[in-house]
Amino acid sequence: MISVGVLEQALRYPQFRLMGSKHRLLPWISEILSSLKFDTALDAFSGSGCVAYLLKALGKRVTANDFLHFSYHLTNALTANPGITLGEEDLAIALEENPLAGRFIADTFQGIFFADEDNHFLDNVWANLQRVDDPFKRSLIISAMVRACVKKQPRGVFTISGLSGKHDDGRRDLRLCLKEHFLESVDLFNRLVYSDGSEHRAVCGDVFDAPASVDLVYLDPPYVPRSDDNCYIKRYHFLEGLSCYWNGMAVLHQSKVKKLQKKYTPFSYRKTALEAFDRLFSRFQRSILVLSYSSNGYPGKEDLAALMRTYKSQVTVNEHEHRYHFGTHSAVRRERAMVREYLIVGT
Ligand SMILES: C[S@@+](CC[C@H](N)C(=O)[O-])C[C@H]1O[C@@H](n2cnc3c(N)ncnc32)[C@H](O)[C@@H]1O
Repeated sequence: MISVGVLEQALRYPQFRLMGSKHRLLPWISEILSSLKFDTALDAFSGSGCVAYLLKALGKRVTANDFLHFSYHLTNALTANPGITLGEEDLAIALEENPLAGRFIADTFQGIFFADEDNHFLDNVWANLQRVDDPFKRSLIISAMVRACVKKQPRGVFTISGLSGKHDDGRRDLRLCLKEHFLESVDLFNRLVYSDGSEHRAVCGDVFDAPASVDLVYLDPPYVPRSDDNCYIKRYHFLEGLSCYWNGMAVLHQSKVKKLQKKYTPFSYRKTALEAFDRLFSRFQRSILVLSYSSNGYPGKEDLAALMRTYKSQVTVNEHEHRYHFGTHSAVRRERAMVREYLIVGT
């Protein structure tokens, strides 16, 4: 049995509205994780970071990995962080009006997602980040900007321009300015970070380069979708750019919302997914494997369980019904809304 305190701590983690986030499944995942014996863990596709944070709450030594920079900052700020918070002085530095602030966001994204004063706010905080050396404080500030943008953008995705007013349902999140969201996020994050005496780590890199010497690896790759696509950059390009101030990133200026180039991952394509899972299981075969998967992904769970059996002597498939809330009644959507979630565990 998992203790109430652990779960309470894990569920305080914010949602971030990231596609594929397992936030709603945390009670179920924690139940299964607590039945396994391990001390060190890798969250290999950390995304919003909620599972990495759960692993820390469970008392494990955690490494979180994702190839997106904004995911890295979330886990560096909230899980790897040994209790460093942002104080009044740090906030004064971050928010001070800086005459040397750039105009990259103001110029590139004018009239697309946020109002001019919000764009200036982001340009200005970025200029002030030059004066922040502590890596955890930097990640906290970047994560607070990221959460502010997610809250203010309709549905939290950057495929549509938020300024048309079409999506404005008067919600508080849409009314607050980015600075107000930023300050609320800092307050929330300051209450989430803590030291448990262990050294946790956040890494930004490809899963095939992630450290393999851990007792347990939690795998939550993107799924090959039945229709549409599952590109994270398409939906979250603004957050990814913001987390590095678009340094070294090529903006696709011809696109309406100033997207970034897609980031290739073999897990997203029918042709390459099965081979990628094989490489993944092979790479982490010395660890307990815990794979999150769902009934609307390809390959099917039977194929994945069989593949895992070639590396692990015991493989168990745990099932959970997960209802996504699309808020629509069309037959297709209803079918997609009823998804079975699996946790395939190989020991
Ligand atoms: C389904 S999401 C993970 C969700 C996460 N467990 C959560 O609860 O928020 C998949 C993640 O895998 C990352 N990803 C995809 N391909 C990757 C690769 N080759 N190496 C590292 N990360 C990758 C994506 O950036 C995305 O954040």
